[in-house]
Amino acid sequence: MYILLMGPPGAGKGTQAEKLIRDYGIPQIATGDMFRAAVKSGTALGKEAKSYMDKGALVPDSVTIGIVKERLAQDDCKKGWILDGFPRTTAQAAALDTILHELGIRLTAVIGIKADSKGLVKRIGGRLVCKKCGASFHKEFRPPKKENVCDNCGGKLYQRADDNEATVEQRLAVYEKSTRPLIDYYEASGRFCEIDGDQSMEKVYSDIRDALKKASK
Ligand code: AP5
Ligand code: MG
Ligand code: ZN
Repeated sequence: MYILLMGPPGAGKGTQAEKLIRDYGIPQIATGDMFRAAVKSGTALGKEAKSYMDKGALVPDSVTIGIVKERLAQDDCKKGWILDGFPRTTAQAAALDTILHELGIRLTAVIGIKADSKGLVKRIGGRLVCKKCGASFHKEFRPPKKENVCDNCGGKLYQRADDNEATVEQRLAVYEKSTRPLIDYYEASGRFCEIDGDQSMEKVYSDIRDALKKASK
């Protein structure tokens, strides 16, 4: 399975990827998570990425395409993957086509999670993320069993630096301008499946499972 998870900030890409990893045993490749790991380690990549992420802007294509290309060439990607948050621009989509061509891979499905923007601000505002495994929780919609502790691994939960009101508005605007146009691009390839993200996490997942079953026939 080679899956693209698309959708605006807070749509539930990370939440659904967690379930896909569990059921399909394939890795999640999330550019946002990769950048956050680089910021934490204080590398040059992290310093550069942070300056964009703090503003809610996109990290330049050249940087982003480079790290994805490197990651997709690793051994654990041979059996499949879930790309979360990449591509986000037409240049990234074109680069991905070239990478897939070189690797001899055909996308199984492009899952586009659609969600109402007012709800997204609320989701992002209440999100808590595990420092250790990256799992997403929510103060109201998915509260952890123990306050500020991850149900999966016992890691500490924190609020992402870019999860503040000003940055969220900017991230939503960037999505509309740069990423939404990719829907047409993938619709034309016949691989696009739209999923209603304004349902319970479980219902969204069962819709994704149904779409993947259809797409892999
Ligand atoms: P990234 O980390 O990808 O952030 P994003 O796209 O803004 O998406 P999020 O991670 O915020 O949302 P999500 O869809 O994963 O939602 P989640 O499942 O957590 O990118 C961050 C930054 O990195 C970018 O701004 C950019 O600077 C840079 N970057 C990354 N990729 C890049 C690229 N390709 N090119 C250039 N720059 C790049 O859910 C959100 C919350 O809602 C959670 O609390 C969750 O519990 C809750 N929730 C989920 N589903 C439901 C539901 N059905 N009902 C109720 N609550 C729900
Ligand atoms: Mg995410
Ligand atoms: Zn965890």
